[in-house]
Amino acid sequence: MSPVIMTEIVLPSHANALGTIFGGVVMGWIDISAAIAAQRYARSPVVTVSIDYLHFIVPIKVGYTVVVKAQISYVGRTSMEIEVNVQAENSITGETHPATKAYLTFVAVDEKGAPKQVPPFIPKTAEDKARRLKAEKRRKERLKIFHG
Ligand SMILES: CC(C)(COP(=O)(O)OP(=O)(O)OC[C@H]1O[C@@H](n2cnc3c(N)ncnc32)[C@H](O)[C@@H]1OP(=O)(O)O)[C@@H](O)C(=O)NCCC(=O)NCCS
Repeated sequence: MSPVIMTEIVLPSHANALGTIFGGVVMGWIDISAAIAAQRYARSPVVTVSIDYLHFIVPIKVGYTVVVKAQISYVGRTSMEIEVNVQAENSITGETHPATKAYLTFVAVDEKGAPKQVPPFIPKTAEDKARRLKAEKRRKERLKIFHG
């Protein structure tokens, strides 16, 4: 499954008084690119049900290019986990830095907003199988936290 890649430039309207981007702007881009990846996979409307920890690693300055890459990392019965990696790029020097990484869970829904089944993903390669195992572990932890 090919990733969704969103490329944006940080404008003054995205920034705080320090001239670096607001976290909420990056969060919006993460949510949108992950939703597109989930929707393309499910061929259905989807809703965000959970966003795991978000850590902002480096400040992203006005004028920088932000590259948001969203890829399906796990497929359940009605839910999908999307891994999103955000890179901050100084397009003048070509320098890039990992800026944020997040896992989001989306659920495919019908016209009444009820969960509906998505096409199953059967991992075939060793890499896909290893990725699924890791994702299953995250899913278990996530649901444990949610259900208390
Ligand atoms: C998403 C929603 C439809 C799920 O409904 P629900 O009655 O909890 O559905 P279920 O308990 O059957 O769970 C459906 C799937 O979501 C997963 N899920 C439910 N709550 C979850 C959570 N907090 N975190 C991660 N996954 C979750 C379940 O594990 C299940 O996955 P699976 O089918 O792949 O096994 C409902 O919670 C909802 O509408 N939430 C609001 C969504 C929203 O408005 N988002 C923001 C704007 S897009």
